[in-house]
Amino acid sequence: MKKNMIAGNWKMNMLRHEARELTENIISGVADVEHDLDILLAPPFTALDIVGGLIEGTRLKLSSQNVFWEDRGAFTGEISPAMLLDAGCEWAIIGHSERRGILGETDAIVKKKLNASLADSLKVIVCVGETLEEREQEKTIKIVQSQVKSALTDLELNDYSEFVLAYEPVWAIGTGKNATPEQAEQVHSAIREITGSIFGQESELIRIIYGGSVKPDNIKELLEMENIDGALIGGAGLNADSFVKIVKIAGE
Ligand code: PGA
Repeated sequence: MKKNMIAGNWKMNMLRHEARELTENIISGVADVEHDLDILLAPPFTALDIVGGLIEGTRLKLSSQNVFWEDRGAFTGEISPAMLLDAGCEWAIIGHSERRGILGETDAIVKKKLNASLADSLKVIVCVGETLEEREQEKTIKIVQSQVKSALTDLELNDYSEFVLAYEPVWAIGTGKNATPEQAEQVHSAIREITGSIFGQESELIRIIYGGSVKPDNIKELLEMENIDGALIGGAGLNADSFVKIVKIAGE
């Protein structure tokens, strides 16, 4: 069975005391959600221990926002899959458009991070998505397909539930302009075609989640789409009320 996933990407927000308060409020807010959803929190590295400690024994899971591709060594400033597992992470977000756009992460880098994480049994959410310019030039499907194909090349997946693709149109991130459910579904189904052509029918179990200005008032219609299996939440995840509302709607 495929579970929907709701993941809060806190980006470079939340000092440790703020992270504590937000986590405590989310924990109490989702306590009565019975539906079998994967609910993830992805705080900045500096708050992983605080958030990880608080969610221990709850249904919430810990994710990092990034990871490096080597396990140890002279890589100043980087954090390995083994270190993230050691810090309590079950998941890592890889290739977020802010990392691709601001920090120069390429498909090749994303691929290395993805392989290293899965090799260490760190589960991954790999982000893909087009810029506004690319959408206006009608290159959306081509760009997203090539990002997905690069991630999937020679990938050996033992468990389809540990690999999630997040479609995040760059023009919809943090802008309040979400893709319409139909626009998102069109890309999700194009992604689904690729996973199907590479892995066969069983790859239906790979979740494809949507990100970009998801809020309590648009989550329902997004999740009604056939190929949308959850959401990656930025801004709305920094507020316990709105994050909890999204989780509750996803759990209905
Ligand atoms: P947003 O961010 O919800 O603030 O648009 C989504 C994301 O970047 O994952």
